[in-house]
Amino acid sequence: MPATPHDQTFSGHVAIVTGAGSGIGRATAVAFAEAGAHVLGVGRRAEPLKETAAAHANIEFLATDVCADGAPVKVVGAAVERWGRLDHLVNNAGATAVMPMAETDKQTIVDLFALNVVAPSLLAREALPHLRRTSGTIVNLSSTYGHRPMAGGAHYAATKAAVEQMTRSWALELAADGVRVNAVAPGPTRTDVMLHAGLTPEAADDMYAYERDRIPTRRIAGAEEIAHWILRMADPAGRHATGQVITVDGGLELI
Ligand SMILES: NC(=O)c1ccc[n+]([C@@H]2O[C@H](COP(=O)([O-])OP(=O)(O)OC[C@H]3O[C@@H](n4cnc5c(N)ncnc54)[C@H](OP(=O)(O)O)[C@@H]3O)[C@@H](O)[C@H]2O)c1
Repeated sequence: MPATPHDQTFSGHVAIVTGAGSGIGRATAVAFAEAGAHVLGVGRRAEPLKETAAAHANIEFLATDVCADGAPVKVVGAAVERWGRLDHLVNNAGATAVMPMAETDKQTIVDLFALNVVAPSLLAREALPHLRRTSGTIVNLSSTYGHRPMAGGAHYAATKAAVEQMTRSWALELAADGVRVNAVAPGPTRTDVMLHAGLTPEAADDMYAYERDRIPTRRIAGAEEIAHWILRMADPAGRHATGQVITVDGGLELI
């Protein structure tokens, strides 16, 4: 849900949002900008990032692979050089993979962990000195399947379980510094994530239809509904919450 025009909760703040060219990342970048923050949107492809930046004057972008050597320095440096501070790191860039055990493939595992676990870790390390100065926040993206089993997706689920444990451990480590670390765990959300995982549009539609029938509220979330909770976890008014994983999945985790 976008902020109202009068909601300037993040006025003067600076946020980095990875994976800002599509889906949840784009919705988050726009929501932060509408709530007054300067936003650096990051992703590999410049074209979708340009579209995100066109949605609000407060959004600038950097096209880079967050898994590349030197990327964390480049990303954090770009935000701090532009605006002189950093308040929020949203580790949203991520990927999924359908991979039953019989088809276990080494490169797929390595790539999933590089993007979903290693890159957010190194970005967090680079952001930390700046977040200490602003009593800032890190919001990581997990999934319902970070704490529920996923047949046919064990390694995706394992990366998100790692994200949840990093969230809790970092929160404990950094609490005394005033840096909060939380995670949002979406359930099935209508984005291009399944297309990016190699599914055809028909297969993705079938998957969403199957999931919708299982979700207690009988609906698939929109990206803006997840962005709403990402902003709530970053909101200074929520300063007493740290180390939490908020699941936003229409009750799917409960069944
Ligand atoms: N949609 C869901 O149902 C769902 C459910 C649970 C959790 N999640 C999580 O939510 C997050 C966002 O997912 P989404 O659904 O919005 O997916 P998406 O539309 O596929 O977005 C992922 C974004 O990450 C960027 N990205 C991928 N690899 C990158 C890299 N190496 N360096 C920089 N950027 C990279 C992509 O842009 P480029 O290709 O241009 O780099 C893309 O904009 C992910 O962490 C995902 O696991 C999604």
